[in-house]
Amino acid sequence: MATKSDTGKIDEVRNTVDRLNSEARTADQLMKGIALLLNQQMLKYNWVGFYMLEPGANPPMLALGSYQGAMTVHTRISLNQGICGAAAASGKTVVVDDVKKDPRYLACSIETKSEIVVPIFVHGKVAGELDIDSHFLAAFTDEDRELVEYCAELVGKRLERK
Ligand code: SME
Repeated sequence: MATKSDTGKIDEVRNTVDRLNSEARTADQLMKGIALLLNQQMLKYNWVGFYMLEPGANPPMLALGSYQGAMTVHTRISLNQGICGAAAASGKTVVVDDVKKDPRYLACSIETKSEIVVPIFVHGKVAGELDIDSHFLAAFTDEDRELVEYCAELVGKRLERK
């Protein structure tokens, strides 16, 4: 259950995301800014990163882009691997409250307890995703999900402008 202070923080961060979106000159700048902002401002967002589909790769492959948090060995992920692969393959947000209980989970850090992955759509097709890990169980409420989906949508719209 989200508290009032969580809601206030989420509103504040959403406003900052809007500002970043108006100031960023490229989609890359926007992604960099969002990764930094979410990691710094949202206490439970301990790793924040973008995975983008490699153009022309067959079979499709997700490649790590801008991120904030500990280095990860998972710099390339195929669509049949991990929670990241599941979100990209289905085009649906995946929220995992306890990664230990999800057999799809690819471990990045032993500290990670929960995860959210939100697909990014460009002209109606999955082009990548925004992945967030938390050191806390069930860190991602419906409000968090809305915030992360909002960020992913802005990135998708920005990529459409290219
Ligand atoms: N846990 C992800 C892999 C990426 S790391 O979290 C940064 C997964 O299961 O796909």
